[in-house]
Amino acid sequence: MLNKRILVTGGTGYIGSHTIVELQAKGFEVVVIDSLQNSHADVLNRVAQISGIKPKFYHFDLCDKIALQHFFEEEPNIHAVIHFAALKAVGESVEQPLLYYRNNMLSLINLLEMMQLFNVQHLVFSSSCTVYGQPDNLPVSELAPLKEPESPYGKTKQMAEKLLADVVVASPLKVVSLRYFNPIGAHDSALIGELPIGTPNNLVPMITQTAAGIREKLLVFGNDYNTPDGSCIRDYIHVVDIAKAHVVAIERLIHSHTKSSYEVFNLGTGHGFSVLETIKTFEKVAAQKLNYEITSRRSGDVEQVFADTSLANDELGWKAERNLENMLSTAWNWQKKLSELSIK
Ligand code: NAD
Ligand code: WQD
Repeated sequence: MLNKRILVTGGTGYIGSHTIVELQAKGFEVVVIDSLQNSHADVLNRVAQISGIKPKFYHFDLCDKIALQHFFEEEPNIHAVIHFAALKAVGESVEQPLLYYRNNMLSLINLLEMMQLFNVQHLVFSSSCTVYGQPDNLPVSELAPLKEPESPYGKTKQMAEKLLADVVVASPLKVVSLRYFNPIGAHDSALIGELPIGTPNNLVPMITQTAAGIREKLLVFGNDYNTPDGSCIRDYIHVVDIAKAHVVAIERLIHSHTKSSYEVFNLGTGHGFSVLETIKTFEKVAAQKLNYEITSRRSGDVEQVFADTSLANDELGWKAERNLENMLSTAWNWQKKLSELSIK
């Protein structure tokens, strides 16, 4: 498999950077495109500290089709693409829907047009459990009907999946869409991890920033849901498990093991944990109490969602390996390392 070249868009971001490390470990050569609108180029130096290899980096916005064409002219031997690049803040997408539709849809369309022009036929796409909305049955399988997502962000993921399913019918393109549940945690080295810009929206960065004293307290959004302890339930999954699934998906595409031109897999552990259980587990692994307070529900939150992982386990041959303790302890180690690295 040595020397197969993979384009990773959004490669300086959270999931992209972890995936680069796993691709390099398997002998793939990685080329990165990122606009750096939500990340820093320095992450690639830390990737190099882990793997010994700094991937080649192109800094531009995928909405710039001319720049993308120049990229493919300069880098003719791309075997496959992993498309992470997108904006992902749910609340921001409600406030600025045009920004989200423009960025997430146009970047994908440009990418697909250029892949077609330069005859690149393998794509792994970052989808999300948000495409399910609040599912009728749990655990949710890939066959569940897609409900209306709560946010413009979620709608861009659903639209992207529909667009991809249409494009594969009319071209030689093969696509694997991976629907991530709730990615958390960080690399064991604590050299890369999630780097939210400004106040985090997601639970785990809020927990670790509160524990680190950056935030005064964590607000728990509701304890009156119809769940055992009243707080919402999610399927948290370690980012390194997610990263490894991308390597499996790339190998599946390159070796022509796909069963259809458009495949979809859930990436979760299959186990749901409540917000309060997650806090308790964090307190245990960090050996400290967390300052938190129950407040009202956050609008748009689904009560509970967790994955049916049987298709990913049986067909993709991938299974999440890390438990919640490991997810939270690596996230906490990363948070502690951030101040050492002077990264804000
Ligand atoms: P991230 O923000 O850390 O990384 C995304 C990267 O894409 C950033 O580095 C950003 O600068 C870049 N980018 C955005 N728009 C771009 C454009 N037009 N051109 C070039 N670069 C661009 O996010 P992440 O958590 O690593 O998420 C990666 C992907 O996974 C996204 O598509 C996201 O929607 C999806 N996803 C994330 C989660 C999650 O909770 N983190 C869950 C489900 C799906
Ligand atoms: C988890 C739970 C909150 C913060 C989002 C996107 C989804 C996907 C993953 C990209 C919920 C509760 C949170 C806080 C809290 N991303 N919470 N206090 O909402 O499941 O999913 O990220 O595709 O599309 O919607 O993740 O981490 O925001 O919340 O009580 O300060 O933690 O109510 O129950 P969510 P989250």
